[in-house]
Amino acid sequence: MKTKILVTGGAGYIGSILVPALLNKGYEVTVFDNMMFQQSSFLDCCFHPDFHFINADVRNTERLKEAMKGKDILIPLAALVGAPLCNKDTTSTIAINKEAVVIMNKFRSKNQLVLYPTTNSGYGIGQEGIYCTEETPLKPISLYGVTKSEAEYELLQSENVITFRLATVFGCSPRMRLDLLVNDFTFRAFSQRYIVLFEAHFKRNYIHVRDVAKAFMFAIDNFDRMKNTTYNVGLSSANLSKMELCLEIKKQIPDFFITESEINSDPDQRNYIVSNDKIESFGYQPDFGIQAGITELIKGFSILSPNKYSNV
Ligand SMILES: NC(=O)c1ccc[n+]([C@@H]2O[C@H](COP(=O)([O-])OP(=O)(O)OC[C@H]3O[C@@H](n4cnc5c(N)ncnc54)[C@H](O)[C@@H]3O)[C@@H](O)[C@H]2O)c1
Repeated sequence: MKTKILVTGGAGYIGSILVPALLNKGYEVTVFDNMMFQQSSFLDCCFHPDFHFINADVRNTERLKEAMKGKDILIPLAALVGAPLCNKDTTSTIAINKEAVVIMNKFRSKNQLVLYPTTNSGYGIGQEGIYCTEETPLKPISLYGVTKSEAEYELLQSENVITFRLATVFGCSPRMRLDLLVNDFTFRAFSQRYIVLFEAHFKRNYIHVRDVAKAFMFAIDNFDRMKNTTYNVGLSSANLSKMELCLEIKKQIPDFFITESEINSDPDQRNYIVSNDKIESFGYQPDFGIQAGITELIKGFSILSPNKYSNV
């Protein structure tokens, strides 16, 4: 019998890379997504007999419960993602990002495994120079961060759960996002050749979208060894400041003009470096570095039409 996986929000930026990878590994995959971005992520998967799609909203508990039946693994990705989008509709943010995950957890059988991604951004307020580990308290400030952390907390009170605290994700996906930092900066370099940085020395950690998919599959393969705790997932070679990231981009786009401004401040005050030792100690290693991601993005931007691929 094939292992059956339910991925809510599976037609998003991460899911659109993860789901084909799961199908390639021989899993039977059902995506449950309301297609809020009018994306067409899986037209190339519809031929696959093990691919199923439910166009529905995770706030519809009956549909969600029905979809969960008979699944071995649940991957709740459905969310309003990022602080600006969440601030536009706070009621929906709480219902989708937190309550739907809590409901899924309540109605699942304890044999159904859960893999859940949250953001590591809450580590980063006032932590300059200190490597954040999984023991570092999350102190999210945005509603996005709060709802994701609360959902994670609920999940970790139960059995058969693994959560990932993801670094800022980068790379190309059929459901593209230009509001993520590496994607955004590379797009500015590609299309405008200049950037004005606020708090250019602020650091954070990054991870390629295919390495996020790899982490999910690694956790499925190693579930019993890894279960019932959380893992940072990021590139240990890339705890980079915004300026250092721009200099990485400039290696491939030499006429990229980078300037700094003192006048404004970044609404996102994260400034932190992250240790990924815990997941690496289990044998996980990412495949894609920052330079490979920038090369990929530059190729991708020759294909895209701008403005369609941002959450706000
Ligand atoms: N991309 C990152 O940098 C990052 C970092 C940390 C955590 N995450 C988490 O990973 C998950 C996926 O993020 P993403 O980058 O792919 O975002 P995304 O915005 O591309 O994907 C979200 C998906 O959820 C779907 N969705 C939204 N509301 C829904 C609803 N009510 N019912 C059903 N489907 C709904 C959307 O249609 C979309 O396909 C999210 O839970 C996010 O919090 C992402």
